[in-house]
Amino acid sequence: MKIGIVGLGYVGLPLAVTFAEAECDIIGVDIDQARVTSLREGHSHVEDIPHERLAGALGRCRFTTRFVELHETDAILVCVPTPLTRNREPDLGPLLGAAQALAGVIRRGQTIILESTTFPGTTRQHMVPLLEESGLRAGEDFALAFSPERVDPGRTDYTLRNTPKVVGGYTPACLEAAVAVYAPVCDEIVRVSTPEVAELSKLLENIFRSVNIALVNEMAILADRMGIDIWEVVDAAATKPYGFMRFEPGPGMGGHCLPVDPFYLTWKAREYDISTEFIELAGKVNQQMPYFCLERAIRALNDVGKSVKGARILIVGVSYKAGVGDMRESPALKILKLLRGRGADVAYHDPHVPELVDLGLRSAELPAGADGVDLAIIVTAHPTVDHRAIAESAQLTLDLRGVTRGLDARVLQL
Ligand SMILES: NC(=O)c1ccc[n+]([C@@H]2O[C@H](COP(=O)([O-])OP(=O)(O)OC[C@H]3O[C@@H](n4cnc5c(N)ncnc54)[C@H](O)[C@@H]3O)[C@@H](O)[C@H]2O)c1
Repeated sequence: MKIGIVGLGYVGLPLAVTFAEAECDIIGVDIDQARVTSLREGHSHVEDIPHERLAGALGRCRFTTRFVELHETDAILVCVPTPLTRNREPDLGPLLGAAQALAGVIRRGQTIILESTTFPGTTRQHMVPLLEESGLRAGEDFALAFSPERVDPGRTDYTLRNTPKVVGGYTPACLEAAVAVYAPVCDEIVRVSTPEVAELSKLLENIFRSVNIALVNEMAILADRMGIDIWEVVDAAATKPYGFMRFEPGPGMGGHCLPVDPFYLTWKAREYDISTEFIELAGKVNQQMPYFCLERAIRALNDVGKSVKGARILIVGVSYKAGVGDMRESPALKILKLLRGRGADVAYHDPHVPELVDLGLRSAELPAGADGVDLAIIVTAHPTVDHRAIAESAQLTLDLRGVTRGLDARVLQL
């Protein structure tokens, strides 16, 4: 099979490499010339795809900015970004741009699958009219389906191969065509009746996480006020063998998916006179967490007779999640800026993020960077960082991730 991938980011590049490893030939298209050039040279910008793995797949991959090369493929997977506008409304620009470009190059017999996360109705109402500008009919001349990407950056136990793949076809025949595309790389395919079911199922997954993270964060704020250890509460509740799923408190939500995708549904729901209260509330609680963390830091310093102004503070872990360097929507940035705004002298350490160009900071070397700082704040707990050593070097540590629990009195938990 010859597979086309449109959008070579966190989603598209791993797909390209995985299909190449399954002996498919790949045409990878991206509008970013610099990205295409560096991929051709074997440089991966996605941590989950090490350079060596990309190098191993290069023989089967052709990376290009030219959509026309997709004409010869059997299937085209669309993995372009779905961001929000400044007004926090869906920005379908990249998606519509890709669909328009595809209309000029697709041919009879191809299967086109949208993987980008989006609101229900995108495939049918937005993709179909643009793709049919080609003169070809969806469901007759070419197959069309939606199949949400479920990648969890940094995760190695669940991959494209062993994570069930949800697929919804524009017609039953489109569904079967899409299933055949994924068969070489996915062990289990979950057929659903329409693209809309598949589109909404992805949003439900993301919203489920966002709401549950907000719930435990709100509980953490309350537990703090009540003088109860939230981590002990979560540990205790998680012993229930059924009806409870463990979520942990933290500094707020980051990444592309959770802070952004739920608002695609909020926007769409308005068309149906529904206001999605859970999504809004979860967003509100999670957005407040960096401010709560700031208050905890100020209180921690105050309790030892110090003010935040002029305090030497080390932020440990600035990416949005452990084990990866992805900075998108990272709450650590917010906390760092808030502390700076209060006059603190802030440095950071993150093995995955060598510098924060906009803030004029480079990752501090350890152990020197933690030595004698007034406060170390563990915002993201990367597995390769020795948090205990940091807690021993710093005068005080505020741990927002519960990785230094029970250490000593100079270590405070969220
Ligand atoms: N990152 C994740 O963990 C994740 C997980 C599941 C789903 N998703 C969804 O997958 C989609 C892609 O996300 P991502 O993280 O890979 O984004 P990304 O920003 O990492 O990559 C997107 C790529 O698409 C390219 N692009 C933009 N417009 C284009 C166009 N018109 N034509 C061709 N290429 C274009 C960009 O240059 C970029 O290289 C989004 O809808 C996202 O919500 C992401």
